[in-house]
Amino acid sequence: MGLIPQHFIQDLLNRIDIVDLIDSRVPLKKAGANYKACCPFHGEKTPSFNVSQTKQFYHCFGCGMNGNAISFLMEYDRLEFPDAVEELASSLGLEVPREEGHDNRPKIDNSLYDLMAKTANFYQQQLRTSNGQKAVNYLKNRGLSGEIAKQFGLGYVPDAWDSLEKLFGNFSNNPKLKQQLIDCGMLIQKEGDSSRVYDRFRDRIMFPIKDKRGRVIAFGGRVMGDGEPKYLNSPETPIFHKSNELYGLYQARQANRNLSRILIVEGYMDVVALAQFGITNAVATLGTATTASHLQQLFRTSRELVLCFDGDKAGRAAALKALEHGLPQLREGREIKLMFLPDGEDPDSMVRKVGQEQFNQLVQAAQPIFDFLLKFLSDQVDLESVSGRGQLVHLAKPYLEKITDPIYLELFSQALAQTSGLDSDKLESLLGSPQQVATTTNKSAANQSQNATNPHQKTASGRKKINKSIQLAITLLLQSPKLGLAVEQFDWLLSLEQAGPKILHRLLEIIHKNPTLSSGALLEFWRDDKLYQRLAELAITEREERIRGNEAQEIADCFKALLQEARTQRLDHLQQKSSQEGLSAAEKAEFQQLLLLSKRQNN
Ligand code: CTP
Ligand code: MN
Repeated sequence: MGLIPQHFIQDLLNRIDIVDLIDSRVPLKKAGANYKACCPFHGEKTPSFNVSQTKQFYHCFGCGMNGNAISFLMEYDRLEFPDAVEELASSLGLEVPREEGHDNRPKIDNSLYDLMAKTANFYQQQLRTSNGQKAVNYLKNRGLSGEIAKQFGLGYVPDAWDSLEKLFGNFSNNPKLKQQLIDCGMLIQKEGDSSRVYDRFRDRIMFPIKDKRGRVIAFGGRVMGDGEPKYLNSPETPIFHKSNELYGLYQARQANRNLSRILIVEGYMDVVALAQFGITNAVATLGTATTASHLQQLFRTSRELVLCFDGDKAGRAAALKALEHGLPQLREGREIKLMFLPDGEDPDSMVRKVGQEQFNQLVQAAQPIFDFLLKFLSDQVDLESVSGRGQLVHLAKPYLEKITDPIYLELFSQALAQTSGLDSDKLESLLGSPQQVATTTNKSAANQSQNATNPHQKTASGRKKINKSIQLAITLLLQSPKLGLAVEQFDWLLSLEQAGPKILHRLLEIIHKNPTLSSGALLEFWRDDKLYQRLAELAITEREERIRGNEAQEIADCFKALLQEARTQRLDHLQQKSSQEGLSAAEKAEFQQLLLLSKRQNN
């Protein structure tokens, strides 16, 4: 299937009213110009969840969740982007079109899901046969109740090479079926004779792995004795990508309407045992380290992730690995914590030993990610010595570089400054602040500052004023896109050096192409962009009462200031060029013209 065309998404957002959509799931109350409710994404008693009809955008002042109609469905109904679009489209009776040729993902044969479901049922039934008795005994021995085994769909695969053929019927009559079972990893082709196949899983306890929609996509199989490997897992298949999937996520979502916290553990047994003890918010990675994709998905469901590790050295190494993926994903409203179990314990053994209540206390006491990091790094150096404190800063550098959220970055830098005893300015210069990098790599800026005679040398306050105009213009356009229609020419924005004008240009381009856009629909263009959060914040900042109502004038002033800045920059450039290599006739004319304009402005 190809990509969904952007114009269709815009059309949908144009037709849907976000107030109706949200109200049908979370009853809203009118409050002034907006609608309000208690936030469905975090627990609260006084409503801080706001929905704006004009902007077609929601925002919670408590937890920071925000977005348009598509985002709401993704978060509230826990849908992936294309499914959320499908859902909106079908509520309007529309078919979702697909672009041709953009997508080269392999086509998924839907009947694979069907085969996996039938197989899972079959394994489950086996527990009730005499063959399966030893499996039942094994589960009992491990303290699992029949109820929890049923809830997780646990089963038993008989000790045979051809259980699947017995289940599905003779493969020689049905080569397509045989191929499908090979494709989904259940059959293995015999080496040397690929026409012969045998079951991958034999004589094991079977854990069905479900995707977010509850479809069985793979299995994990545990030996009952000491055989090797202890766990055998399905290979990668068209429907199973293990670095994207989490064991138990479906069940956790089923068991909890609101998952404010998710516990990430290592094993299948840990998830099942915890659930049996009433801790229904645990998920496990599938024999892999926690990936960025795992964290991303979990943050879509929950604001707080608690990573649970063994207390030993390997556990701490795993924790550090997880940090590398975790740090870049931190931002307002997201939290990562780490908990370490005593040596020799895993969550399964621990919860059986101490019970639900004490286990929950351990979870409560999990270390915030930055506390862990600071402590971990401090432990490696001698903080009493100067060189030790210096070392700390250097050790911290690669982690600091992974933090993308400016507020978290600031907070961690402060904590680091305190621990190392360096003041934060010094620390910044040691670590090379982003601004420094910008001025040393930006040649023309460097030239300008060397050129002390430059009459247009910008003062700090001048630069501040420009930045303010850029930010205000972006804010105004995000809040009331139609203001942009009054700005007729804007290509000159691209000649400005900063990044802001390029965003402004893109905004204007989009608004001119889609004149009826709401804020929520406009932000859709930045959905997967690293700027999204920042732009969303600008879109929802409340503007002061006294300055409201004058937006048209404000935006005109902004663009006037920016145009002046663009001319000044061009003038500077031409001036420099004339002193170095000389100007062409056209450039000379332009220079004269600009000079004239600049004089006029200054008088
Ligand atoms: N694992 C795996 N292959 C193995 C061993 C482990 O895929 N050969 C994965 C499984 O997902 C397993 C997890 O790593 O659940 C943790 O392994 P381990 O700690 O060895 O097992 P436990 O979960 O403690 O399982 P059990 O209590 O049944 O021994
Ligand atoms: Mn275990």
